[in-house]
Amino acid sequence: MSGRLVVRELRSAEEFIETTHVSKAAWGFAERSVSPASDLVAATHAGGLTAAAFEGKKMLGFVHGIPRTNRSEPCQHSHLLAVRPDAQGRGLGVKLKLFQRAWCLERGIRLVTWTYDPFLLKNAKLNIERLRATVRSLLPDFYGHMGGIYAGLPTDRFEVDWRLDDPLVERAARGGGPPPDGYSDVPVATRPGTIPLSPRVLLPFLADAPRVYRTDPKRSLAARRKFRRLAMALFAVGYEVTDVTARDGEPAYVLDRTGDKVFE
Ligand SMILES: CC(C)(COP(=O)(O)OP(=O)(O)OC[C@H]1O[C@@H](n2cnc3c(N)ncnc32)[C@H](O)[C@@H]1OP(=O)(O)O)[C@@H](O)C(=O)NCCC(=O)NCCS
Repeated sequence: MSGRLVVRELRSAEEFIETTHVSKAAWGFAERSVSPASDLVAATHAGGLTAAAFEGKKMLGFVHGIPRTNRSEPCQHSHLLAVRPDAQGRGLGVKLKLFQRAWCLERGIRLVTWTYDPFLLKNAKLNIERLRATVRSLLPDFYGHMGGIYAGLPTDRFEVDWRLDDPLVERAARGGGPPPDGYSDVPVATRPGTIPLSPRVLLPFLADAPRVYRTDPKRSLAARRKFRRLAMALFAVGYEVTDVTARDGEPAYVLDRTGDKVFE
């Protein structure tokens, strides 16, 4: 690849159409239906954001958010973030999210929300560890049935709150690393009825998704159900996800007992 990397808002109908090709490449055709360019144009016209990373003329990835309010506070719901597979792992996902953060702050928007599959470790690391977003709710079967790797699996999603002016988020945006991992003594939540009496708990999740979705749908479904029950029980009593770690070879979320939810 050649040319200078630029992240900017989209300027033409052709560029909006190009987002559908990036989406298809990022998610895989059969695994996810793709949002039509016309929906992105309309949502952008109505106050949303569609921005992309270009190398020369080639669109490598894009981010798309739609206007939202929380009571009277203006916020943005980030509906899509996608990077072409051959451009992944080069920091473009982070660059696009930081562009979105700056764009929102310039317009007085201090909260961005989005959803993701909590079993995807890469997304968890990007959202929680790198961007320092938090999670206070799980939306059960949010999108209903999806084909491809999700066939037969409820589309449970974590809803992310990205408080753009939170000091930890500001530090992360400047490239400040996460605090050192000191979670070896933190108890693990295993059953909804027996949540440890601790201000901090670990919530393990299925390793190696989405490969296991393909190879072992039965185990994936059982893991999904167990995780949903536990996560919802923890959120109901005021825990929030603040970090990602590993315990006994399994990935795990770190949850701290905090207080009120951002959204009610
Ligand atoms: C998720 C996605 C947008 C990330 O884009 P990307 O350009 O590859 O991400 P980056 O290179 O900026 O990496 C961002 C962070 O993700 C994590 N990450 C990246 N690759 C990883 C990997 N292979 N394993 C674990 N974590 C990984 C790291 O925390 C990384 O931050 P760091 O480099 O500072 O450590 C991209 O993989 C994608 O398009 N996936 C398919 C669509 C999707 O899931 N969209 C997001 C929905 S929430």
